[in-house]
Amino acid sequence: MAGEAKKLFAASEVALHASRKDCWVIIGGKVYDVTKFLEDHPGGEDVLLHASASGDATEAFEEVGHSTSAVSMMDSYLIGSIKGYVRPAASKATDPWSTDVPPNSRTMQGNKGPPNPNTFLDFLLPLFVLGLAFAAWYYLTFVSKNH
Ligand code: HEM
Repeated sequence: MAGEAKKLFAASEVALHASRKDCWVIIGGKVYDVTKFLEDHPGGEDVLLHASASGDATEAFEEVGHSTSAVSMMDSYLIGSIKGYVRPAASKATDPWSTDVPPNSRTMQGNKGPPNPNTFLDFLLPLFVLGLAFAAWYYLTFVSKNH
């Protein structure tokens, strides 16, 4: 397939290629023909066949934490991409394709500016309880004994 123009596929079309003799996987909206790679895949052919049959291998592929060399190998198996690809809901929000968490909310916050009111309360409440306990102890030890 090398050198040929990449094609657009429907996911249902890709699902027809989930056997040892003909195995395609969808990763990040791209379609890879891994038939020739099955035997050489360090993770084994079964995981690829299973990923192929599952419909979308994106999350499984990411969970393994493939090396950059693995990612660059993928190009040689690329045959096309999915028409209007929408990534299935991920179980984690740590993937680069996820759009449900704005990038800002993942960055460090709270290093500058006033402390978050919640943190403030978290700090004050134990102090308040401690103060009450001290007042009770003081009252019971010194005040009530004098009467
Ligand atoms: C075109 C697609 C793929 C390529 C080129 C590829 C390539 C590789 C390579 C080179 C490794 C060796 C370790 C590394 O360098 O990261 C590996 C390991 C592995 N791959 Fe893939 N892989 C592909 C798709 C998948 C998919 C869809 C799964 C689905 C679960 C998968 C599961 C695994 C597993 C379980 C290992 C073994 C990790 C280990 O033993 O530490 N791979 N793959």
